[in-house]
Amino acid sequence: MREQMKQAEPGSYSKVQIGVDYYPEHWEEAMWEPDIKLMKETGVKVVRVAEFAWSRLEPVEGRFDFAWLDRALDLFHAYGIQVVIGTPTTTPPRWLTTACPDVLPVFADGSVYHPGVRGHRCYNSASLRTYGSRIIEALARRYSSHPAVIGWQTDNEFGMLDCHCDSCNRAFRSWVQAKYSTLERLNSEWGTVVWSGEYSSWEELTVPYGGSPHQNPSLLLDFQRFQWDSCIHFQRRQTEILRAVCPERFITHNFHSYPQRLDMHGLAEDLDVASFDYYPNPAPQKQATAPYSGALSLDLTRGLKRRNFWIMEQLSGPPGCWFPMWRTPHPGLIRAYAWQAIARGADTVVHFRWRSAAAGAEQFWHGLIDHSNVPGRRFAEFAQLCGEVNALAPLLEGTEVTSNAAILYSHEQMAALRIQPQADGLDYYDNIKQYHRALTKLGISCDVIDWRQPLEGYKLAIVPSLYLHDEEAAQRLESFAGNGGTVILTNRSGVKNMNNICLLQPLPGLFSRAAGVTVAEYDPVGHDIHMLVDAAGESFECSQWCDILQPEEAEPVAWYGDDFFAGSPAVTVNRFGAGKVYYIGTHASEAYWLKLLGGIAAEAGLAAFPDLPDGVQAFTRTGEKGELLFLLNLSRGTQSIGLDKHYRSALSGSLVSGIVELSPFAVEILETGV
Ligand code: GAL
Ligand code: ZN
Repeated sequence: MREQMKQAEPGSYSKVQIGVDYYPEHWEEAMWEPDIKLMKETGVKVVRVAEFAWSRLEPVEGRFDFAWLDRALDLFHAYGIQVVIGTPTTTPPRWLTTACPDVLPVFADGSVYHPGVRGHRCYNSASLRTYGSRIIEALARRYSSHPAVIGWQTDNEFGMLDCHCDSCNRAFRSWVQAKYSTLERLNSEWGTVVWSGEYSSWEELTVPYGGSPHQNPSLLLDFQRFQWDSCIHFQRRQTEILRAVCPERFITHNFHSYPQRLDMHGLAEDLDVASFDYYPNPAPQKQATAPYSGALSLDLTRGLKRRNFWIMEQLSGPPGCWFPMWRTPHPGLIRAYAWQAIARGADTVVHFRWRSAAAGAEQFWHGLIDHSNVPGRRFAEFAQLCGEVNALAPLLEGTEVTSNAAILYSHEQMAALRIQPQADGLDYYDNIKQYHRALTKLGISCDVIDWRQPLEGYKLAIVPSLYLHDEEAAQRLESFAGNGGTVILTNRSGVKNMNNICLLQPLPGLFSRAAGVTVAEYDPVGHDIHMLVDAAGESFECSQWCDILQPEEAEPVAWYGDDFFAGSPAVTVNRFGAGKVYYIGTHASEAYWLKLLGGIAAEAGLAAFPDLPDGVQAFTRTGEKGELLFLLNLSRGTQSIGLDKHYRSALSGSLVSGIVELSPFAVEILETGV
């Protein structure tokens, strides 16, 4: 059904341009036109509006007021600025929550998530379904052919609510019934016999009220899956209305703050384009990590639809309010991080927000213009960015990021590993950050994709901890390696079936066929630092976990250097068909990953940009007309980098070769073929 619905024309979301988030309802109407005029003069092309404006769009039940939004959209249109409208379902108005308290989420202890800020909405509330669908349909009817409107954003920053309300309880029971059909099957798949947890009637089955992680892990994992599905269905009701009433416009959602406990890939299936809200921490002490975790977030967002994406909210000033304020962005930082987003596949970058809020819970999450209402240093930098992006848009449009390497990401593995933490310091997402950081430091472009996605076209797949697994997952990796791919598996793979039940077989379970190795014993070493020695005799630190490996067909390539397992293999490689499968039984330091990946890149012919100085990132966007190489200095120090080709700077037009000096937060965009 969904597939048959008309999708927006790709052209409407693949423009390379800069936007701002604007809240007309927060300002005197007399301020709108001067604001919009300044946007136009600055080079802003698009705004997002209305995602929290339900109480202004429907001040009392059933009485809609679109006149103010009409006037705002007409003004935007008059100035040639396009608009994305957010559906307002994250802020149900007080008339609704008072009349229909089932809209409000309920925590495990029975307390209610009260209105007043936002996010106070249960995804399974029947009232929210009714009233939310009605306001969305009314909005869509009103603006489906408004010439300024190019797209829709569903809700705002979905998150997991762990709602324990009556509607969720009933919906969870039906979800479990649909999955397992019979109580016998449910009891056996969840292993409820342990500690007398068997269900003898469906009424006994509830959401996990205990809230403790020490419950049946199969129940807890399915409760997460149920919530993922609840959120997907909640959004799907919105996308179905929008596509039916307003089929020509695109639909997006603004994801945020990874790692997210959502099924982001499932949510993205119903979108035309994915968006991300990008707030890199500008603190100097974060500069060794923020540019790298940021690059991962961008690659993960691109992986949601495996194509270019939007930034719906981009850092514009010092963040605050939810915590004491962070440092203000250093000169150049706002511009450099916006270019980093574009380098990693963002097309439109919308900055949050035009002006800092004067009222409400978020007065000190600064926008481009401070409460002084005088555009200052940060605004001037933003204006420079707008000018540059508008000038380069014809060169950038249609270009994409192409990668030979992929990291397979799974929200299910992350959930299962959080339900039962395996060892101190072993965190699924933090470990992914480390592998991705090593790739970024080596200048190896990487896609971060859902673990069930096809792997054709890649040369290297890094597959962190496939703790839950099945035959399909094992076979897919076997066929990728069999056809010449290199696979890197890590510890805690092949431990369980997909229902979170341990399997009575040697680790790494079904993956041992391709890895050619089994685990004789393991030691969850946690924060204790151990040693790893590679074939060249070089030592590296390792921690978290030590699998003591027993190679079958595989060859050891690194061994433990200490403890009772000194001399036992820690890392192995197996030739499998035309490819190779590495198994890393421990959590090796970044230095080891840099060496391992550097070697694999050379051997597998992965394009790399070795010797990047700290904080400097190199990324490429490729199109029919050629390649654009982005060099970004995301640090407060001057850095230099050697080029082995001749380039022309797309920003300045000058020829660039040899050693390039990059001042703090400098950006170079280089065209090849000069
Ligand atoms: C996002 C949100 C915005 C704004 C911003 C700053 O999470 O979507 O509305 O609150 O963060 O906190
Ligand atoms: Zn609920």
